[in-house]
Amino acid sequence: YTVTSQTVSESCPSNIALIKYWGKYADQIPANPSISYTLNHCKTNTILEFLADQPFSVQTFLSGNEEAKFGEKIEKYFKNIEQYLPWILKGKYIIKTENTFPHSSGIASSASGFGAIAKCLMALDELFSGKGSKEESLRKASFLARLGSGSACRSLYNGLVVWGSSDLVEGSSDLFAVRYPDEDIHAIFKDFNDWVLLIHEGQKSVSSTVGHGLMNTNPYAERRFQEARENFIPMKEILKNGDMERFITLVEHEALTLHAMMMMSDPAFILMKTGTLEVINKIWDFRKETGLPLFFTLDAGANVHLLFPNNGAEEKIKTFIESELLPHTQKNGVVKDVMKF
Ligand code: PMV
Repeated sequence: YTVTSQTVSESCPSNIALIKYWGKYADQIPANPSISYTLNHCKTNTILEFLADQPFSVQTFLSGNEEAKFGEKIEKYFKNIEQYLPWILKGKYIIKTENTFPHSSGIASSASGFGAIAKCLMALDELFSGKGSKEESLRKASFLARLGSGSACRSLYNGLVVWGSSDLVEGSSDLFAVRYPDEDIHAIFKDFNDWVLLIHEGQKSVSSTVGHGLMNTNPYAERRFQEARENFIPMKEILKNGDMERFITLVEHEALTLHAMMMMSDPAFILMKTGTLEVINKIWDFRKETGLPLFFTLDAGANVHLLFPNNGAEEKIKTFIESELLPHTQKNGVVKDVMKF
């Protein structure tokens, strides 16, 4: 290694899981495999300035404002991954980061944030050690991102991405994410919308770290992990044959199961808000009346991710969202994203 002062910048999108990761073992090993869509527009852009031969420290700025707490978190993270990047503690870092989506919107900024930092670290590593292959470097970035925030490892690839070892997905691993094979994805899933309704801004009552931890004592945890593993069987068939009805049922079931696990934790917690439930019921009524493929998924928060394909009916769906669902958000908040690949 030749460690020199360098500045690198990278960008990484957020992702939304269809089969959810909820519950983990030591060293960020997921209790079950998960599959997600990587978003196209919601991204974190990060500039990382590395000052060689200065004492190790990390200074972080979020949209121009210094964020000491985030800096401490990154410092801990860098110490934790020293075994994989031996040079990492040999300098000072100034990290400037901004999201293309509203701060505190509840859109997973940890996934895009750790994804972007991991990419910056691999860019530095290539400068210090001479080039590695692009595929290998991406895989290592995914591996490193996982150690920052589990779901972040899926953000390194576009389209549909699997993290966690599954017999049904070739090459899948607990240690890093892999692309879901393109030839096994029906065209209907390659041009999809994700409109995030911002139901509630502000801090979540329970962090995802604490939420994962509560799966350790949840009496339903083992059954849930098994169900998630089994859900790859229908998911694989659906992705291949384009069966939208079964896709909708499976994806909504996964979202509600995630929140059911929270309610069955000890202590119990609920991250959905009144607006979340109102929107879910409106979506169900809309589907019953029109038969159009508008459905939802949820992250560990109150926001509703509205999913619908671009296959002809999207204008009607968009009109419905704007007129009937937007009033249930705070300040008419919606972030419109797409997954096109
Ligand atoms: O990556 P974490 O530890 O923030 O966990 C996120 C878990 C969910 O977003 C709720 C589900 C998922 O698979 O992304």
